[in-house]
Amino acid sequence: MSLIKDIKPIEFPVIHDHRGNLSFIETGRHIPFEIKRVYYLYDVPGGAERGGHAHKDLQQLIIAMNGSFDVVLDDGYEKKRIHLNRSYNGLYIPKMLWRELDNFSSGSVCMVLASEFYTEDDYIRDHNEYVELNKFQNKKAPQNG
Ligand code: TYD
Repeated sequence: MSLIKDIKPIEFPVIHDHRGNLSFIETGRHIPFEIKRVYYLYDVPGGAERGGHAHKDLQQLIIAMNGSFDVVLDDGYEKKRIHLNRSYNGLYIPKMLWRELDNFSSGSVCMVLASEFYTEDDYIRDHNEYVELNKFQNKKAPQNG
């Protein structure tokens, strides 16, 4: 199970240069998982929504490589909207969090670094099913703090 408090904004290093800035991302140093897959969304038409699912095991890091968009997180208890608009900022999303992406600016590019290869079996696409499962796992999890 996961809660919204488990997401993490991550700022990548920036090497400022008059020829253009440079950022880099290293597995284990800047992100807490090994990257197995990279995918990206682009040519997103105005008003479109993406996502609308949770992942049983997959962890992700989402970056606005160009333009901007919003990521809406939902753990079944609360919702949080996060605006991404810098290519040196990423949003870490653990497994088992419901996410939606919307408010894409024209020409925006959303890059996703993923901890697993693509498999449809890892998706939970029914919101009610997700909420039930996450709350069930939350009740079973050892309470700390
Ligand atoms: P999906 O993850 O549902 O898109 P989003 O959450 O961004 O709205 O994926 C859309 C389609 O693309 C779906 O049929 C599965 C396919 N797909 C792949 O084949 N490989 C991938 O790595 C991803 C992310 C999606």
